[in-house]
Amino acid sequence: MIEIKALVLAGGRGTRLRPITHTSAKQLVPIANKPILFYGLEAIRSAGIVDVGIVVGETAAEIEAAVGDGAEFGLRVTYLPQDAPRGLAHAVAIAEDFMGRESFVMYLGDNLIMGGITSFVNEFQKTKPNAQILLARVPNPSEFGVAELAGGHVVRLEEKPEHPRTDLALVGVYMFDETVFEAVRSITPSRRDELEITDAIQHMIDTKRTVRAHEVSGWWKDTGKLEDILEANRMVLETLEGENHGLVDAASRIDGSVVIEDGAVIEGSVLRGPLIIGRGSRIERSYIGPFTSIYHDVVIHNSEVEHSIVLENSRIVNLGQRMERSLVGKDVEIVKSGTMPRAYRFMVGDASRIEVP
Ligand code: DAU
Repeated sequence: MIEIKALVLAGGRGTRLRPITHTSAKQLVPIANKPILFYGLEAIRSAGIVDVGIVVGETAAEIEAAVGDGAEFGLRVTYLPQDAPRGLAHAVAIAEDFMGRESFVMYLGDNLIMGGITSFVNEFQKTKPNAQILLARVPNPSEFGVAELAGGHVVRLEEKPEHPRTDLALVGVYMFDETVFEAVRSITPSRRDELEITDAIQHMIDTKRTVRAHEVSGWWKDTGKLEDILEANRMVLETLEGENHGLVDAASRIDGSVVIEDGAVIEGSVLRGPLIIGRGSRIERSYIGPFTSIYHDVVIHNSEVEHSIVLENSRIVNLGQRMERSLVGKDVEIVKSGTMPRAYRFMVGDASRIEVP
């Protein structure tokens, strides 16, 4: 067996998830109350990898506070600062010293892959190509890197093409041997002014390196957008088994698989799973419907919430209408005030979106 390291990309800017990402890293948005990034780190460890370099940018402090030295995951983590989001191939270039001559798996920190990456890593170790990519069929290929195959071989890659030739999207997990470093040094910035990993892999194909493709087995989500985050949350919640570590009073009813974390209190409410209620949260005289993740220390009082994610310390009180398909950030208050005149009153951050019936 050859030794394999991992490179996890947790820099960049979450422009499509503003305003949430004005204040925090997109890779740390919790899915079923666990940061997206942690699913990737667990998948890396399960594949038998221990040495991980994490590329960090302007949210470095937050990522480092969440992951630490990696010991909690059974990993040895080294942080690799990137001065600006100059592209995935740039992130590879700055990792050269850390990788040395070792092969590595590159994992995009905002990707969620159910079923892990173990078979993908094993196949690379068995067949020893110069690069291996992971592909999935998608309905909207122009939002991804797109691959064209001929006789099982990758012949062409394009980054977010206007007119995609296939519906095979590049999933955010790649494997490389040391020949990738020569490729990332040979390419120039793209139209969006980034050094694209798709161009680097195309360069490897053009210089007769072996590039293999592997199709994803479970489901996969790039969680860059609200709809994808909600969908990923739904899919992960569907895999959870119900368990109760909190306090549920006799007037409450629980249907389906519901996870209640330490110290959460449920009073006079109906909880219809799959859903999760985070530690220290209070649900009072409310309905929480399927596919909902309520994070830590949230209060929901006399309100109905479904198919949503609510982050820590937020309060939803006397809402009047059911809230659905929503992502509510940290320390947010959504309340019905009862004061005259009867009007909407907002204190909303930049790039927010509010829909009223
Ligand atoms: O999710 C799969 C897609 O990921 C692929 O199909 C595309 O070919 C690939 O280019 C990439 O596209 P995105 O536009 O979605 O990449 P994004 O800018 O969102 O960056 C992916 C992750 O890498 C994210 O966690 C941020 C991090 N990153 C990104 C850049 C550009 C860095 O750490 N440094 C960077 O310079």
